[in-house]
Amino acid sequence: MGYTDREQKIIDHAYKKVRALFEAYPAPAHGLDHAERVAHWAKQIAIAEGEDVFMSELSAIMHDVGRASEFHDNPEKKRHHELSYDLLRVWFREDEVLKSLPDEAKMEILYGVRWHWNDVADDYMSAIILRDADKLDVFGQSGIKRLQEFCAFHPTLDIDTDLRFRYHCYYFVRTPKARGLIEKHKMMEPIDAYFQQRNRSAIVPCEL
Ligand SMILES: [Fe+2]
Ligand SMILES: [Fe+2]
Repeated sequence: MGYTDREQKIIDHAYKKVRALFEAYPAPAHGLDHAERVAHWAKQIAIAEGEDVFMSELSAIMHDVGRASEFHDNPEKKRHHELSYDLLRVWFREDEVLKSLPDEAKMEILYGVRWHWNDVADDYMSAIILRDADKLDVFGQSGIKRLQEFCAFHPTLDIDTDLRFRYHCYYFVRTPKARGLIEKHKMMEPIDAYFQQRNRSAIVPCEL
């Protein structure tokens, strides 16, 4: 699989832009490392499923750009998906490289990014692949590390609730390739072990 020169230029430019954004405004558990892992998984899933690799990778690298402003500049207290959507609309209008994308491609990316929290937003296969790739990064050791990092940063979040959310994510993984990656890399084992450990240690003797 290879990109055309034009596609490669757009992909490289998007990575550069996302990197610069998160270097200026780091986002706990949702910054550059996360975006790059999600883009990597999205590419692998799209290749295996015979879907649009370019659209899947491009959506994935840009999906959480709203995390940069979420805790710095968010007077309306919008959720990060909406902030990502807002920022991408600006980039699609003003950025010299990204504005060259066809309108249909822009609309597809905006849809996938805006609804990446929504497990029934299925208008495009790239949106489903983005969600699967994003989910893979909540599993495994990196998923535990991210959970702890985000809950430490965000005191209103609860580790046990966030841990339970991992099982919701597992249920809604859609593509065979993503399911295969979870099995291959035994991504649920650290989640199961952490879940068992936290819940078992919470049980204290009852008293009459
Ligand atoms: Fe997100
Ligand atoms: Fe994400």
